[in-house]
Amino acid sequence: MLNFDFYNPTHIVFGKDRLNELDELVPKDARVLITYGGGSVKKFGTLEKVSQALGNRPIFEFGDIEPNPKFNTLMKAVDIVKKENIDFLLAVGGGSVMDGTKFINLASNYEGDAKDLLTHGFNPVPVKKAFPIGTVVTLPATGSEMNNGGVISYEGGKFPIFSPLSFPKFSILDPELTYTLPSKQVANGVVDTFIHTVEQYVTYSVDARFQDRTSEGILQTLVEIGKTTIDNPEDYNARANLVWCATMALNGLIGAGVPQDWETHMIGHELTAMFGLDHGLTLAILQPAVWKVRREQKKAKLIQYAQRVWGIADGSDEKIIDQAIDRTETFFQSLGLKTRLTDHGIDETKIPDIIRALEKHGMTALSETGDVTLEVSAQILKEAL
Ligand code: NZQ
Ligand code: ZN
Repeated sequence: MLNFDFYNPTHIVFGKDRLNELDELVPKDARVLITYGGGSVKKFGTLEKVSQALGNRPIFEFGDIEPNPKFNTLMKAVDIVKKENIDFLLAVGGGSVMDGTKFINLASNYEGDAKDLLTHGFNPVPVKKAFPIGTVVTLPATGSEMNNGGVISYEGGKFPIFSPLSFPKFSILDPELTYTLPSKQVANGVVDTFIHTVEQYVTYSVDARFQDRTSEGILQTLVEIGKTTIDNPEDYNARANLVWCATMALNGLIGAGVPQDWETHMIGHELTAMFGLDHGLTLAILQPAVWKVRREQKKAKLIQYAQRVWGIADGSDEKIIDQAIDRTETFFQSLGLKTRLTDHGIDETKIPDIIRALEKHGMTALSETGDVTLEVSAQILKEAL
C-alpha cells in the first residue's frame, strides 16, 4: 500500500425527510446564498422546503447554474456574495450546482483574478479562507457532496479545482429527492459512480485489500441495483444504495493508498466540452475502449475485476478480460446509454480535434503510470468509434 493522508470532515445527513434539520445545521445568524440549477428544484418543490426550513435567516438565491457550470455564470454569483455579505452557501442540486458553489465560494474569497483558480490542476488552489458550504443533493453521481473537488467550464475547456476548503460542512442525502430525475440522468449517475470506482481500482496492485474489496463492493452493488433504480425510480432501497455508492466512490476512501488513473475522465471532459455529451455518457463510451487499448498494463487488475465483480472464472487470461470488457459495455447499454462515439454523430474525422484539445489542456501523459500519450488517446478514441 502507498503512503496516504485521509481527511474528510463532511457531515452526512442521510435518509428520508431530513430537510427540516437544515435549521440546526446552518448557523442561526448566517446570511445564506441558496444556489441551484435550471429550475428542477423549483418545479419539484425542494427549493420551497429548503427556504422554509431556514426560517427567518436572510436568504438570497442564485439559480441558472447550467450543467457543466461556466466560469462566467458563477462570477455573477460572486458579485451577490460580496454585495450581500453572504457567509454561508447552500447548494441545492447535482454535481454542477455543488461544484459551481464551491467555485463561487473560492472566487469570493480570492484576492487576485479568479481565472487564476483554473490553472492549478489537481493541486490545491491558493485560497486561504472560505465560507462554510452545505449541500442538498438531488442527483447521485459525482460525489461532490463529500469531496474537495469541482470541475468548471471555461472557453471550451473543463478545469478541475481542488481545495481543502471545498469539503462541504454537511450534505443532506435524501434519496427521495432524486425520484424526479429523468432516467438518462440516473443512468449517467450509475456510470459516473462505476467509473470513479474503476479509475481508482483497475490500475495495478499494491496489495491494498480493503480498498480493492470496497471498490468491488461498490461495483457489485451498482450491477445489482443499476437497472432496478432506473426502471423503478421510487424503489427506495435501490435508490438509497445508489446514493450512498455515489458518495463513497469519490470521497477519498477507496483512493487512499492506491494508484489512480483518471484517463477516462480527462478524455471524457474534452468530449463534453466539444460535443456537449453528458459527463456520465462520455465515460460509458470511453471505458471499454480504454481497457481494450491498455489491457496489458492493467492485466492483473482486469482479471481480478472479471473474477470478483462478474464471477468470470473460466478461460485463458485474454478470454477472461474480453468477457469482462463485454459485460461492462453490455451493462452500460442495459441502462439505456449508447456506448459508441458514432452513435452520437462523432466519427473518425473529429479525432484530431479532440487530440488537439487534449494537448492544449496539457493532457499528454495520462493514466496511473503517465504512459497515455496523445497517440494512445487517439487509439482509445478510435476504439470507441
Ligand atoms: O439544472 P436543473 O434544472 O436542476 O436540472 C438538472 C440538470 O439538467 C437535472 N437534475 C438534477 N437533479 C434533478 C434533476 N432533474 C430532475 N430531478 C432532480 N432531482 O439533471 C441535469 C444534470 O445535472 P448535473 O448537476 O449537471 O449532473 P451531475 O450531477 O452529473 O454533474 C455533472 C458535473 O459534475 C462534474 C462534471 O464534470 C459535470 O460538470 N464532476 C464533478 C466531480 C466532483 N466534484 O468530484 C467529479 C465528476 O467526475 C465530474 O467530473
Ligand atoms: Zn465523473
